[in-house]
Amino acid sequence: MGEELGYKVKDVSLAELGERQVDWAYMHMPVLRRIRRRFAETKPLKGVKIAACMHVTKETAALMLALRDAGAEIALAASNPLSTQDEVAAYLATEGVSVYAWKGMDEKSYFWAIAKAASIGPNITMDDGADLTVMVHKLLYGEEGGLDVEAARGVVEKKDLKNIWGGTEETTTGVIRIKALSKEGKLLYPVIAVNNSLTKFLFDNRFGTGQSAIDGIIRATNILLAGKNVVVAGYGWVGRGIAWRARGMGARVTVVEANPIRALEAYYEGFNVSSMADAAPIGDVFITATGDKDVIREEHFKAMKDGAILANAGHFNVEVSVEDLERIAVEKRIIRKNVAEYKLPDGRRLYLLAEGRLVNLAAAEGHPSEVMDMSFSNQALAVRALVRKRGKAKPAVYRLPRSIDLKIARLKLEALGVSYEKLTKEQVEYLHSWKA
Ligand code: ADE
Repeated sequence: MGEELGYKVKDVSLAELGERQVDWAYMHMPVLRRIRRRFAETKPLKGVKIAACMHVTKETAALMLALRDAGAEIALAASNPLSTQDEVAAYLATEGVSVYAWKGMDEKSYFWAIAKAASIGPNITMDDGADLTVMVHKLLYGEEGGLDVEAARGVVEKKDLKNIWGGTEETTTGVIRIKALSKEGKLLYPVIAVNNSLTKFLFDNRFGTGQSAIDGIIRATNILLAGKNVVVAGYGWVGRGIAWRARGMGARVTVVEANPIRALEAYYEGFNVSSMADAAPIGDVFITATGDKDVIREEHFKAMKDGAILANAGHFNVEVSVEDLERIAVEKRIIRKNVAEYKLPDGRRLYLLAEGRLVNLAAAEGHPSEVMDMSFSNQALAVRALVRKRGKAKPAVYRLPRSIDLKIARLKLEALGVSYEKLTKEQVEYLHSWKA
């Protein structure tokens, strides 16, 4: 472990490998490349301090370097103990970003790293899941208790957190947490819900997670999906992305959904729809994507087939109850990387992937760069918007204006070489008139 002033990563000598990965990501991120070039010329973030808590991947590195080139000073912590790409973390550390992240960090180190990032004295926080935002708020409110607050003791102080102008949040789960903070009247600064941009959730959540979750399951297990009974819990954008991709690979897909409208959508889109209780005995592979806890728990494990595989694609490791699994299993062994076998008292075996953590990032590389191009272009422009608006927006959860969404979509189409239709003046007028 290399610990130097300003960063803590697994092995800084991996930097050259990381640089190649980041080059590869940039090759597939034309919109972010363009923003980076513009930022490098105009320096809209000159002197701005950013604390970020995000998955330390090659795509995140591309974003961090764009922000650095815009003039920002950045400290970056991982947003999941298993998602860090160590070579990328090493490269960023050599590029002037203060990175605190390594793959396989324990919970205490995980929160310590977030506290280290916060100790930069940020003007802007960038979050994926809201662990940084929540820590900052707990510290500012002087809350005692909790692993995060404990880990922050002596690392970051209230005075470091007094100059925050705003924050961004990347993911559905994080937006829900920050909205809850806001609803209680406790949010202390404006936060842009990057997740809520159309060019984010319609693509990243659906096509990104759809592909990368399946990728993680295949990399971990090397199973054949064709012919398998795949049970997808949750039919939000993530769940539907996974369900459609699994079907595309020949799986028989059952959707478990608590919202009747979404359940009906899944039904009319041709999926089997059932409760988890009914799905438990038939599933070969279970994938959770609900954002809620205990989606698969003791009563379901007890009904499952020998050999069932359990994977989670939601932000936190709470959807498959690992606690229940650990309690009812009589034996546990690691079968191969990211696959743990739990033997139940009657001899049946269940296989949990990546400790129930985000399977797409823990067992694969997260979403492909092409899709992160749009998500992270939104992030870059959100940070610029917060800097421009500093002190003028009240604490609330915002989304980026639709004009930015449209611009990102236009740039993406242009980079893809896809032409799209332009309406005539008369057509536009027709659409806006009530007389014709
Ligand atoms: N979230 C999902 N995929 C990701 C990726 N490739 N990089 C950063 N965050 C992600």
